[in-house]
Amino acid sequence: MSAPRVTFEVLTLFPAAVRAFASAGLLGRALERGHVAIETTDYRDFTEDRHRTVDDAPFGGGAGMVIKPEPVVAAIEHVTAARGPMHRILLTPSAPRFDQRVAERLAKLPRIALLCGRYEGIDDRVREHFVDECLSIGDFVLGGGEVAALTVIEAVSRLVEGVVGNPESVSDDSFAGGSALLEFPQYTRPAVFRGHAVPEVLQAGDHAAIAAWRLRASLARTWALRPELRPHAPWPDDVALYLAVPHAPGDDAEAWRDAIAKHRLEGVVVIGGQPESAVAWTKALGGRVAVAAFPDLRALRRRFRARGGEPWLVAISSGEADVGPGVADAATGAAELLDRLRTCAGGQRSAAVLLPPGALAALGAAAPDAAFAPDRAAQHVLALAPGAAIVDPSPPAGPAQWVERAIAALRGA
Ligand code: ADE
Repeated sequence: MSAPRVTFEVLTLFPAAVRAFASAGLLGRALERGHVAIETTDYRDFTEDRHRTVDDAPFGGGAGMVIKPEPVVAAIEHVTAARGPMHRILLTPSAPRFDQRVAERLAKLPRIALLCGRYEGIDDRVREHFVDECLSIGDFVLGGGEVAALTVIEAVSRLVEGVVGNPESVSDDSFAGGSALLEFPQYTRPAVFRGHAVPEVLQAGDHAAIAAWRLRASLARTWALRPELRPHAPWPDDVALYLAVPHAPGDDAEAWRDAIAKHRLEGVVVIGGQPESAVAWTKALGGRVAVAAFPDLRALRRRFRARGGEPWLVAISSGEADVGPGVADAATGAAELLDRLRTCAGGQRSAAVLLPPGALAALGAAAPDAAFAPDRAAQHVLALAPGAAIVDPSPPAGPAQWVERAIAALRGA
């Protein structure tokens, strides 16, 4: 067996926990096959007192205990003397964030030391004088650095040649190869599970169409779920915009109508309302706009998805001819309106839904379970209908300002 390409030296108070986790799954196999190696070293083996003390009270007072520098530095020096120099990384929440880019950099190194803290951390002189870099796996505080070290080990090992059987499954991953996009959705058999179908394009075998669908899905998902990555996943200009309106048209129906016309919105959806809401809106809008009611966002997403197969962006074709003037008068009824909205879906274009604050309240009413608690509503709207733009209702704004602000928010302005 040839030498491992990367060796991780984990310095910890819990070596058994690290070894136990590392022995499972893909990583365990990579260790067995010798693609990577993991050594563990216990700080406690480098204490000099009878009680094997590794921690002490912080200078300056305060809660908790701090790991003493002597056993940590002695452990580093021992490992270096025994097995050779290594790139020394301290795991701590007070550090730059570990990400795929960092993993790619580390995967090129032959020997990596991962120093795990516990309690209130390690005496800061270790960070200042005895390590090469510090990494955090996120803005939260773990009980110690072991899980963070294992996170680094897993992410780096997947990039080491031979560890993952099919290199394509690594290059398709979210963030792989410098990409800032989340991975596209993946499905397997059955093609229909409990009534939910896998997008047709994935079953048809047209590789160019599949690639285009996947790119679009990556962009949409990134846009919706990770606002800070929107510069890498701009909202496409060709989307069709729908407006989610309150349950009942109020006195300002005319203002809504003007805003819909001015911004050439495709139609109106009532979320969480009764079918009668659609009828009332149709009447209020003079019968010139497509209106449909959905019990909740999930239903809305299902409907759009069923038409176009796009997983995140709702797919609805745009264009005057599709939606058409005089879609219905009030007497037509919600069922036909919904039908119209359905049949205007061409699957070529994506649509966004603009959600005013009123629609959020409706959403809460329609799905009063814990997942839709008001403080999480915005998050869920994005998760379910990623084309949704949610606009802060203050200061009070009329339909015109609201629509303008929602569109600006969608475009990331
Ligand atoms: N140790 C405790 N919390 C941590 C975190 N978020 N990242 C890295 N190491 C840690």
